[in-house]
Amino acid sequence: MTIEEFQEKFGIIGHSAAMKEVVATVMQVAPTDVTVLISGESGVGKEVIARAVHGASSRSEKEIVAVNCGAIPEGILESELFGHQRGAFTGAVDSRKGYFEIADGGTLFLDEIGDMPLPTQVKLLRVIETGEFMRVGSSSTQTSDVRVIAASNKSLQDEVAKGYFRQDLYFRLRSVNLFIPPLRERREDIPAFVEKFSKDFVERNKISFGGFTLDAVEALKSLDWPGNVRELKNLVESVIVLERGKRVDAGAIDKYLPKRETVYVGEPSGKFLPVRLDKTPEESERELILRALWEIKNDLVDLKTLMASGETARRLSLPLPHRLPEPSEEIRGSADGRDLNLEEMEKQLIKTAIERFHGNKRLAAEALGISMRSLYRKLQEYKLRDV
Ligand SMILES: Nc1ncnc2c1ncn2[C@@H]1O[C@H](COP(=O)(O)OP(=O)(O)OP(=O)(O)O)[C@@H](O)[C@H]1O
Ligand SMILES: [Mg+2]
Repeated sequence: MTIEEFQEKFGIIGHSAAMKEVVATVMQVAPTDVTVLISGESGVGKEVIARAVHGASSRSEKEIVAVNCGAIPEGILESELFGHQRGAFTGAVDSRKGYFEIADGGTLFLDEIGDMPLPTQVKLLRVIETGEFMRVGSSSTQTSDVRVIAASNKSLQDEVAKGYFRQDLYFRLRSVNLFIPPLRERREDIPAFVEKFSKDFVERNKISFGGFTLDAVEALKSLDWPGNVRELKNLVESVIVLERGKRVDAGAIDKYLPKRETVYVGEPSGKFLPVRLDKTPEESERELILRALWEIKNDLVDLKTLMASGETARRLSLPLPHRLPEPSEEIRGSADGRDLNLEEMEKQLIKTAIERFHGNKRLAAEALGISMRSLYRKLQEYKLRDV
């Protein structure tokens, strides 16, 4: 099979030298059982490549099992991966299989592996090397035949230097390291992405679109795309929806292009969302109020979660109340006098933060002052996965 045929089969766009090299390596390593590490910034296409590695392997009859290590609370990641025995911990009323058992005979895709806690990394290294693991709360070893593909948008090397990632595991993983460069370093791929994303979107939604002019494509090529391919795809799709039926030139897309110049209000502690310079004072003020409310809401939610888990009570050795009061969902007195639905507000803020940071969830979480895990949880809760 040629590189082009392989790309066609697995829907991998891009004829830049960098992309061809990645694909050529994928074709070489896919049929083996070797562990693969895929690295690159957010939105560069790590999952697309992981799926191709699995799809071109002898394990392809089984579905690839994908686990986002950054989205699962640290406390339960280990039992999610390796399973647990009945009674292993409070609440473990049944024994449960972990992903290593579920993926037996197939491929396990460990996304955001840089977020895996150190003790879990030890166990992961062992299962990669020997195929053996233990369910949480069990003393007998089990075996599983799983091919591991890991991905990270953090530099694992940096994480090792900081002491957050085990060097032995890093060395084991990086034996095949597929680095996918950011889109700004392979701009020649942009026209093909624009064409494919437009065609797919128009077909899927049965809407008409006059296409992008050459100068529009040139404008798209000249941008830096901090959110990489995901950001480009989102932009193409918004333009098609909002410019329905028209032919779009550089002038028309200009208004959809993200405004990059931002300033921070208050201390640059990372707790604040950037405020655009082009906003009116009223809009900025409203945003600040929303932000303050958002923090209050956050505290309430955290408190509620803690209390519901009984953790605070246990930690403080307080008796647990039988029924916990529900925090009120709405508070009155928003800037314009309307009722402000806090859930809706939180959703909007998360959306805004992710859009501002062009799909980079890490930066968005930092700006919102919440952890990556909380952000993923919220995205799931509000079904915002693909913003
Ligand atoms: N080479 C490619 N060919 C086709 N589609 C691509 C390619 N690269 C990225 N995409 C598309 O861009 C979007 C983002 O890709 P993907 O989810 O694989 O990124 P990622 O690197 O896993 O991002 P993250 O680190 O945020 O998880 C997806 O919709 C994907 O289909
Ligand atoms: Mg991904």
